[in-house]
Amino acid sequence: MKKMYIQTLGCAMNTKDTEHILAELNQKENYKQTDDPKDADLIMINTCSIREKPVQKLFSEIGVYKKIRKEGSKLGVCGCTASHLGQDIIKRAPIVDFVLGARNVSKITEAIKTPKFVAVDITNDESEYEFATNNSSPYKAYVNISSGCDKRCTYCIVPNTRGVEISIPPQIIINEIKSSVANGAKEIFLLGQNVNNYGQFTNKELPKMDFTDLLKTISEIDGVERIRFTSPHPLHMGEKFLQEFANNPKIAKNMHMPLQSGSTSLLKSMKRGYSKEWFIKVASRLKELCPEATISTDIIVGFPGESDADFEDSLDVIRQVGFSQIFSFKYSPRPHTPAQDFEDQVPNELASARLLKLQNLHKEMLDELMPTKLNSTCKVYFDQLKSDGYIAGRTDDNFLVKLKCSDDSVLGTIRDVKIIETKRMDMVGELA
Ligand code: 5AD
Ligand code: SF4
Repeated sequence: MKKMYIQTLGCAMNTKDTEHILAELNQKENYKQTDDPKDADLIMINTCSIREKPVQKLFSEIGVYKKIRKEGSKLGVCGCTASHLGQDIIKRAPIVDFVLGARNVSKITEAIKTPKFVAVDITNDESEYEFATNNSSPYKAYVNISSGCDKRCTYCIVPNTRGVEISIPPQIIINEIKSSVANGAKEIFLLGQNVNNYGQFTNKELPKMDFTDLLKTISEIDGVERIRFTSPHPLHMGEKFLQEFANNPKIAKNMHMPLQSGSTSLLKSMKRGYSKEWFIKVASRLKELCPEATISTDIIVGFPGESDADFEDSLDVIRQVGFSQIFSFKYSPRPHTPAQDFEDQVPNELASARLLKLQNLHKEMLDELMPTKLNSTCKVYFDQLKSDGYIAGRTDDNFLVKLKCSDDSVLGTIRDVKIIETKRMDMVGELA
C-alpha cells in the first residue's frame, strides 16, 4: 500500500474535501494515510484563498516539502488557491505534480496518474457525484448540502474559487447521513457556503425542498441526535426557518450569523443585503423564539472606507447581540473581487488596532458571561479525545467542555455534565 499525507488549510468545506480526497484514494487507489510527510509517496496541500496569508503559506509549505520528501514522491496542490492560481502554481513551483481545484475533487484519481495534471474548472458540477466516504470522526459526520456561492459580497473570492451555488439533491444527502449514522455518527454537521438558501439553485427538476424542510427531514432519520450547520446567511433567516430552529429539539442551539460589519453603509458597499437594524432585529427575533440559543459571528475590520464611526457600529452590534463566539479578520484584498479596487483602503496599523480593540471588547464580554455558567448542568456530546488526555465535547449551544475523566466509554455519548470551572473559551465539567 502506498502512503499519502495531506495538509488542510481553511474552512469546514475544505476539511470535507480532504475527507473525500482521502476516501477516494484509499478505496480506489489503495493509498493509506500517514501523519508523516517524510514517509509519504504522495503529499497534498489542500489550500485556502480567503485571505492573502494562507496563499503565501502554500508556497512556503511547498518549499518545506521539497526539502523533506522522500525520493520519487508526488506533490499535489488542491483546494481554493488551486482554483484561482491554476497552472501558475506549476510555473512558480515546477516540483508540483498536479493542481486540483475545489469542485474538481472527483478527478483526484486521474490527477495522481496524469503528469502535470491541472483541473480548475469552477463550473464543474459534482453535486451528484457519490464520493467514497470516510468520516474523519466516528462520532460526527460532515455532510455537504451545497457547493459554491451566488452572493458575490464585494470582498469575497469564494464565488471565483468554488463557483456558483448549487444544491446537492436531497436523496444523496439523506443516503450519506443514513450511512454515517449506521457507522455510529450521532451528530450531523451540514456544510455549504450559504446553507439556508438550500434548494434555490439546482441543476434538475428535484423535489421542492428548502433548508427548513431539509432540516425537518434529516431530524426524522433514526439515529440522528444532533444537527449543526454552517454557514447560514442572515438574509435567509425568515420566520419559518427560525421557528424550526427554535422548536426542533435535534437542531443544536447555536446560530452562526455572519455580521461582517455593523455599519449600514459598509454593509451596502460589501453588498450584504441587510442593514445594521435589520440584523439586530433578526437576532432579537431568534432570541425571542429561542432564549437558550447562542449566536456566533464573523466580522471583518478595515474594509475599504471604514471610518471610526463605522467601526463603532460593529462594536455596538457586538454589545447589543452578545455573540458567544466571534471570528474576526483584518480585511485582505483579494484578486477578482470588486473591493480590491475600492478607494479609501484602510492602513494596516489602523486595521490592526481595530482588530485588537474588537477582540478585547469580546474578551471582556466573555469574562462576564462564562462565570455565570459555573455549577450549571448541560448536555454535552463527547466526541473528542484531546492530546492532553481530556475527553471533550460541545454543549448544545456550542461551548467546548472538557471532562476530567479518562473513561473512554464516555466518548460517543451525550451526557449531563456539571460545570466545575469556567475559562474564557471553554469549561471543565464532571458527569452529573
Ligand atoms: N478579507 C478578510 N476576511 C474575509 N472573509 C471573507 N473574505 C475576506 C477578505 N477578503 C471572512 C468573512 C467570512 C469568513 C469566512 O472570512 O468574515 O465570513
Ligand atoms: Fe463570501 Fe458572501 Fe458567499 Fe460568504 S456568502 S462565501 S462571504 S460571497
